[in-house]
Amino acid sequence: MIKEKIEKLLNESVKKCGFGEQKLSISFSSRPEMCDFQCNGCFALAKTLGKNPFEVASTIVDNIEKNDKFVFSVAKPAFINVVLTDKALAEEANLYLEDERGGVDKHAKSEKVLLDYGGANVAKALHIGHLRSPIIGESLKRLYKFMGDEVISDVHLGDWGLQMGLTELQLFEDGQLSFYFEGKGKEPKITLDMLNEAYPKASKRKDADESFKAKAEEWTLNIQNKKEPYYSVYKKIREVSVEQIKKHYHELGANFDYWYGESDAADYIDRVVKIIEDKGLARISEGALVVDVAEEGEKKPMPPALIRKQNGAALYATTDIATILMRNETDKPDRIEYIVDGRQDLHFTQVFRVCKKSGISPESQKLVHMGYGTMNGSDGKPFKTRSGDTVKLEDIINLLIEKASAKLKSNGVEFDRELALQIGVAAMKFGDLSNYIEKDYVFDLDKFLAFEGKTGPYLQYTAVRINSVLAKANEKGGAIKIYSDDERNIIKAIFKLQSSFESCYKERSLNGLCLATYDLAATFSTFYNNNRILSEKDETKRKSFISLLNLVKKELALALNVLAIDIPKKM
Ligand code: ARG
Repeated sequence: MIKEKIEKLLNESVKKCGFGEQKLSISFSSRPEMCDFQCNGCFALAKTLGKNPFEVASTIVDNIEKNDKFVFSVAKPAFINVVLTDKALAEEANLYLEDERGGVDKHAKSEKVLLDYGGANVAKALHIGHLRSPIIGESLKRLYKFMGDEVISDVHLGDWGLQMGLTELQLFEDGQLSFYFEGKGKEPKITLDMLNEAYPKASKRKDADESFKAKAEEWTLNIQNKKEPYYSVYKKIREVSVEQIKKHYHELGANFDYWYGESDAADYIDRVVKIIEDKGLARISEGALVVDVAEEGEKKPMPPALIRKQNGAALYATTDIATILMRNETDKPDRIEYIVDGRQDLHFTQVFRVCKKSGISPESQKLVHMGYGTMNGSDGKPFKTRSGDTVKLEDIINLLIEKASAKLKSNGVEFDRELALQIGVAAMKFGDLSNYIEKDYVFDLDKFLAFEGKTGPYLQYTAVRINSVLAKANEKGGAIKIYSDDERNIIKAIFKLQSSFESCYKERSLNGLCLATYDLAATFSTFYNNNRILSEKDETKRKSFISLLNLVKKELALALNVLAIDIPKKM
């Protein structure tokens, strides 16, 4: 990448000047009107050499190999400024045009990563609290892959908890399972509507009625012990529910390599308990099996991790620990990362500590919880329906389609569900990903859906516009040349985009990439407004423009692919 080329020249000069092995690095200029890159390292270098910083910087600049691409100069007190000549800009642009990675280098060290995101709960309707995980997870997966990691995605469905017993018991009490439990009547078809009614009803009853709750716990245990007919009925419930979850994730553009759930780790639970007991980590507290995980000097109280309830049932932490054991026997990832609500931080701290203490996770393995913030309403509180209920994912998807359709209509595009979904989802994703992952943000769909400004639809619109110009061009592009600041700014925006892939990878973030993608789209819009492209008379210039469009198209496509934003056919 461009940065390395400049650093190489600088460091060759450092060596030539006899200033030792210390390496200088550069960053984007904080004053772009003065230069493109700057090096701040001469202060530290001069200090180790016991020399005057300005003199060190000047000597380095004087000794840089002569070239016609970069202009180096010293600014007081001891900065080295670098300006790229038009020759360098054009050369870089033409290189990226030929490179399928658009000039972005892979990360040197490739790791095997297991990404745990999605996390929908079987038998419960997906709701807004589950929305950020598939959005962030899908993009991080794509970013890691693009940067050279081997990534496996696992949806890790919540399918082994109390909601199973609650739902099944409710269906039973409503007389819908007599075929299985009493051999009466004909086999019923378990439907989504039945589940959507049963779980909320049971969940409310559980809070008001202790004996119902106890019974549901017993049913959950029967399911976990694979007792019949509890287990077979459970599997039917799971199937209906998973079908719906798959549909929703598909609409959101989240794809998974594994459709495992907590239940898939069930067979590892006994082994987890044995490992913990053999290591002397387990103790009984009020009948339950627990592991102490608090560390000395810790300020926040850290309760012990609950491994087995008094009745023998497994808990949320148990299935997560068992899943790590399973993953380490099958995939052996270098890192396992969880894209889960930040409010589950305590849970993951407990799980990770149990795994490290017991050796279930080897010392070298990185276990990371990427806790995301909450989607709030305009009142700054978690986004709710008008009546104060949690918003169902299904309703959000419908809302996205409705609002995007209205926008399209005002642009003269007739109703097209697929297209509206593409745009609505893009709006939501960009609105989400352009924030810091760990921060709360306000879910403001009208703002996210604007076709102008920092939004997903604006990026899509830019890409669509480029595609439509290119479709009309009936000639190939030529070498990219620099005619004005419009091209210079586009190519510099590409440098920033390239470097944002790398910095986002290092920081496990996506907001920098969102911004850099927007900046590229904005510089393109300026170019587009200032120039006639297909009607340009000068052939060399016209062909340069066509190539420039191809380059922007490629770079945008790379970024939008990582952001998991589709490029529509029309808008
Ligand atoms: N099902 C969980 C929930 O709804 C999320 C699962 C997150 N992943 C995990 N490995 N614990 O809260």
